[in-house]
Amino acid sequence: MSLQQSEHNFVVVASRLPVDRVAGNEQGPGGEPEWRTSPGGLVTALEPVMRETGGIWIGWSGDAGPAPGAFEADGLHLVGLALSETEVRQFYEGFCNATLWPLYHDVIAPPQFHRRWWESYVAVNRRFALAAAEQAASGATVWVHDYQLQLVPRMLRELRNDVRIGFFNHIPFPGYEIFAQLPWRRQVVEGLLGADLLGFQRRADATNFLRACRRAVGLTTRGSTVRVPEPGGYREIQAAAFPISIDAKGLEEIARRDSVRKRAWQIREALEEPGLVLLGVDRLDYTKGILHRLRAYGELLGDGRLGPRVVLVQVASPSRERVEAYQLLRDEVEVMVGRINGQYGEVGYSPVDYLHQSYPREEMAALYLSADVMLVTPLRDGMNLVAKEYVASRFDESGTLVLSEFTGAADELAGAFLVNPHDIDGLKDTIVRAATIGPAEARRRMRAMRRRVREHDVARWAADFLTTLGQAPGGSGPAGAGGQASSVVPPGGISYRAAPPA
Ligand code: G6P
Repeated sequence: MSLQQSEHNFVVVASRLPVDRVAGNEQGPGGEPEWRTSPGGLVTALEPVMRETGGIWIGWSGDAGPAPGAFEADGLHLVGLALSETEVRQFYEGFCNATLWPLYHDVIAPPQFHRRWWESYVAVNRRFALAAAEQAASGATVWVHDYQLQLVPRMLRELRNDVRIGFFNHIPFPGYEIFAQLPWRRQVVEGLLGADLLGFQRRADATNFLRACRRAVGLTTRGSTVRVPEPGGYREIQAAAFPISIDAKGLEEIARRDSVRKRAWQIREALEEPGLVLLGVDRLDYTKGILHRLRAYGELLGDGRLGPRVVLVQVASPSRERVEAYQLLRDEVEVMVGRINGQYGEVGYSPVDYLHQSYPREEMAALYLSADVMLVTPLRDGMNLVAKEYVASRFDESGTLVLSEFTGAADELAGAFLVNPHDIDGLKDTIVRAATIGPAEARRRMRAMRRRVREHDVARWAADFLTTLGQAPGGSGPAGAGGQASSVVPPGGISYRAAPPA
């Protein structure tokens, strides 16, 4: 197949573009749509590499309809791919978010298996793979992201055996007994095995994947390596943990701004002299344990164990609003918030401040600063960056964190109060403990967590992954020999290194 190749040594392939269309300003001065870089962690991490290498990012804009195609925003090279209205329903809302999302999050909601949705997943993955094959320079490094694009590594390898392919899974990879439910489990594992390096959030996720290689495809694994037979030899693929992080320094800089500190003070004032401020910040998603948190909080109000005038500020940002499970969850959360406020509120006082909105980073930093206790209680979460953002914002080293054991962050944030969110009594006791420990212990815990997040930031995550990818054994080698790279990171091409920790 002849493909017109571009000159990009570094290609990022993710379901979302790292930019948003500027709302209310659809057309810029040249008649083109206007875009603004979205403040997500991934773009913060990869922007320096993209600029250094003249890299390109392939993704979807989030709207159905015609593709924006190749364009530039803030000096970044981007390619926006199209999804039709049907593909938004079958690929995005269907297979990604009503099949894979619940399946990979330990079937908290029942996954739905529809053959049409799978066909759409294959077709959209092929579109991304073709676009990557078109944009990658000879020997380029291509980094594919997340569960929406698990077939891309293999599809891309079939088109371009000269490129080096990394894949990072941002969400959990489930235990085999759960993964085995997927009618297309073999295709998914084989799709992923097109990569040279597979990154997961936790070691347990990598282990689950290696088991799926053995059970679903019958491959041999040794340590963190899978051996994939190929004509005339084999390829060795590493599956390992690379826990993602945040731009800790950047967020702390925002939190230290006078305007943000003033805003944090205003938020507390607006809460009418609260005795205690608890904070929850989540996408409105059933994996986040919002209902369990509300149940525990409501009971604590009934017991009076948190004292008077306690407030839970719950930010629940809108997400996947056309997917049925998300609509049901929203209803349940809003009924429960109404019940708690109706039962325990007074004129001028609501114990839950519920905000179904998204906020800019400055407002988030002010919210983090205004809280006494942050509640992060997912039933399952690949990492949970909110926990890390809270820690990074607390430059004054005060505040405590209640954190679910079932998050990737729990492996790293040793200073948190760990909880099993299914255990409502345990959750209640832990919230009370986190709200009542002395300032010295709170500071000791926060300091330890801050050190971890500062030293393991998102730049280090990207550098670790790309360095390991650069050293991956790569392509076909004769059976029994070490394997020889079929694609190389261009000498000095991806020379990205994390800054030494401050
Ligand atoms: C999670 C996933 C991302 C996804 C994000 C928002 O963090 O790991 O891949 O982009 O949720 O979800 P959305 O469906 O809006 O892309």
